[in-house]
Amino acid sequence: MADYPVYDVLIIGSGAAGLSLALRLAKNGPLRIGVLSKSSLQDSNTYYAQGGISAVLDLEDSLEAHINDTLKAGAGLCDPDIVRLTVARGKECIDWLLEQGVPFTREESETGAVRLHLTREGGHTHRRVVHAADQTGRAVYNSLEERTKEIKGIDLFEYYNAVDLISTRKLGFAEERVVGAYAFNAKTSQVECLGARVVVLATGGASKVYLYTSNPDIATGDGVALAWRAGCRIANMEFMQFHPTCLYHPDAYSFLISEALRGEGGRLILPDGSAFMHRFDSRNELAPRDVVARAIDYEIKRLGIDCVYLDISHKPADFIRDHFPNIYSRCLELNIDITKQPIPVVPAAHYTCGGVLTDRNARTDILGLYAIGEVACTGLHGANRMASNSLLECLVFAKQASIDILKSLADFCEPPALPPWDESQVSDSDEEVVVAHNWDEIRRFMWDYVGIVRTDKRLERALHRVDLLKREISEYYSNFKVTSDLLELRNLVIVAELIIRSAMLRKESRGLHYTLDYPETNSDAPAKPTILSPVLGNSS
Ligand code: FAD
Ligand code: SIN
Repeated sequence: MADYPVYDVLIIGSGAAGLSLALRLAKNGPLRIGVLSKSSLQDSNTYYAQGGISAVLDLEDSLEAHINDTLKAGAGLCDPDIVRLTVARGKECIDWLLEQGVPFTREESETGAVRLHLTREGGHTHRRVVHAADQTGRAVYNSLEERTKEIKGIDLFEYYNAVDLISTRKLGFAEERVVGAYAFNAKTSQVECLGARVVVLATGGASKVYLYTSNPDIATGDGVALAWRAGCRIANMEFMQFHPTCLYHPDAYSFLISEALRGEGGRLILPDGSAFMHRFDSRNELAPRDVVARAIDYEIKRLGIDCVYLDISHKPADFIRDHFPNIYSRCLELNIDITKQPIPVVPAAHYTCGGVLTDRNARTDILGLYAIGEVACTGLHGANRMASNSLLECLVFAKQASIDILKSLADFCEPPALPPWDESQVSDSDEEVVVAHNWDEIRRFMWDYVGIVRTDKRLERALHRVDLLKREISEYYSNFKVTSDLLELRNLVIVAELIIRSAMLRKESRGLHYTLDYPETNSDAPAKPTILSPVLGNSS
């Protein structure tokens, strides 16, 4: 008997993707399931999601329209089969969430029937965003957590930070398979071993690699780094999405002003009150995010201003308070009454379109390792994710993965004996300042050199810094005992490098990747994803 826990399925991450998978697996058989969360269970991008989840529910809408909108936003880089698969599962996923008890916002139709209220966001040609006021993520998370806790057989580990995957190759076996993970227990400061027949990365995105972000602290791209170190290919990392409208206020930390505000009529204005989006795109405020974020960035730099403004005060005050209660009250705490005043906003890093390359069943390059949710690159988003397609992707691929895992679990035998974590060669750190300094440095140069507008020169500067930092961090990691900050830093520097290298390989502007050196989209050849391979040492 192993003196560490062994699971049929070990899920790393407790957001929408991780918890949906745990529930779907548990409902279909008596399985040993472990779920790790490196912070509190709820601390995830999922919890903070505002706008909603896209799904075709309106009679005037169609799957074809949702597919076309997604493909258009993705700027030629979406995988059409994956887009079709995902969009087609939209209604079924919303029904599943309703079964889990998610209290979505409803409205009365003209005939008096009660139905789900659908809002609108950028890129969508129809109303198709199901939501729970402006706190959809919290509503979804709370229901999933409640259901998960009702089920025996799911072990939840809070404050367990996955350090590295354990693969059979590292243990000297010929066949390559993932058989568990080491995880840092932040409460005891010990690294523990967990065995598993199947491991699923559901670790979310990497937007914390930028100085300004809408994401909570957990979003350090750990899953991408874990998969890269284990030998998986990583795709499309140059496509980091900047949300156009994050609250600009010295006391507001990472607070998003939902795109649904623009969907319901909010207008972007300059300090003199004039609108400007019509100068950039005929869809005005509802152009896809890359267009709106670049337009704001352009105006901020052109005028030398700190922010632009988002104004919805022309709408009735009751309407604003009903639809956006959370945004209304958070702004009011900061003395901004959005029923009367415009909201100061700036773009900030929001979503990682790239990630661990997966197939339609969420399988990665390594046997026994799956990836779902924001950590994965399924081909759905291409060069730019359309609003509210992310939670949909989490739900759809949790289901895809559950079906594949249940079908093939018999092929994954019990893991072999796993060696305990060895810290005989390391001591307690005597220079934590190195970790804090390097964290800040990465995030600042990524913002300055690898942000909304890029150039070859800026990317070269960033790569030079990342090379130096990688060496320093690796040396530090070899000498000192791990801490949560050090583990995240070690991952962050890999993520930064993957973003920079991917951006350098793309000699064109497309979707979220915009470079002054190649401002046009290359239409001479079919668009290709950027795929980096640790086995090849670089790219393919
Ligand atoms: P997350 O929900 O981020 O969960 C990641 C989990 O992994 C966490 O539990 C974390 O602790 C854990 N984890 C990470 N690293 C480790 C590690 N090393 N060890 C152990 N555990 C680890 N999308 C939409 O579709 N609609 C919206 O309205 C919307 N609004 C958004 C608003 C905000 C402010 C933000 C930030 C994002 C929004 N998004 C929205 C995007 C969407 O919320 C995320 O893409 C989605 O929730 C990701 O879910 P996930 O399960 O993949 O990851
Ligand atoms: C928002 O509410 O603006 C966020 C929606 C998303 O990221 O999909």
